[in-house]
Amino acid sequence: MTEFRSFGRRRGRKLRPYQSEVYSDLLPKLALDIPEEGCWDPREAFAQPDLPLNLEIGFGRGEYLFQRSLLFPQQNFIGAEPYENGVAKLLTSISEHYTSETPSRCNIRLFVDDVRDLIGKIPNKCLHRIDIPFPDPWPKVRHRRRRLINTSLLQQIRRVLCDGGQLCIATDHEDYLEAILVLMQQFPEFRWQATKASDWQQPWYGIQTRYAEKALRAGRRGYYLHFVL
Ligand SMILES: C[S@@+](CC[C@H](N)C(=O)[O-])C[C@H]1O[C@@H](n2cnc3c(N)ncnc32)[C@H](O)[C@@H]1O
Repeated sequence: MTEFRSFGRRRGRKLRPYQSEVYSDLLPKLALDIPEEGCWDPREAFAQPDLPLNLEIGFGRGEYLFQRSLLFPQQNFIGAEPYENGVAKLLTSISEHYTSETPSRCNIRLFVDDVRDLIGKIPNKCLHRIDIPFPDPWPKVRHRRRRLINTSLLQQIRRVLCDGGQLCIATDHEDYLEAILVLMQQFPEFRWQATKASDWQQPWYGIQTRYAEKALRAGRRGYYLHFVL
């Protein structure tokens, strides 16, 4: 099946000089280096490869990813995001936190492109948790085929999550919410954890993403779905 582009822009405003500098200095140290062919294990990209590995898809400016990486120093995180200005913002947060000698100690590694080009290369049952906070909703009917969450991505997610692995998806778009819940019925092995309304109303770890804040200001609420395999 042809996959349609699920993201908007790769580039926005020109980066400020210090952002450009951080981008060219720090990104090569934190970007995943994936071989064209042969086996590859993403755990080997981290200073402590045996820690539980998480993936965040579409981290935007990375506030949720960065805060989680500090909250859970005994876990590793991969962030996938093709939007370079967002990547530059996250790299700036990382560079302000770690001194220039220690960025490789940072427990985040980055893939600055479409996650679908990454996930197919991840070995089976390798990931502890996958977060997809507020994927682009593509509300117009003619754009719906661009939605990231579809059967083929969920098949890959099921393959790469370990037993007991977690999948967390948030959206502020009721139509997308409904579509995701319908899609998840194809995967009954994922158990939806909600037992009461507050379970799907609270942001994970109490961290609001930038997109969630925008949605709240516009009078929309976020729905937080948590599934366990
Ligand atoms: C609506 S924004 C939400 C950003 C952030 N998660 C937040 O909540 O503030 C969706 C993000 O997903 C990214 N995205 C869309 N398709 C993607 C893909 N195939 N791989 C990785 N990221 C993707 C977009 O570039 C965009 O930054």
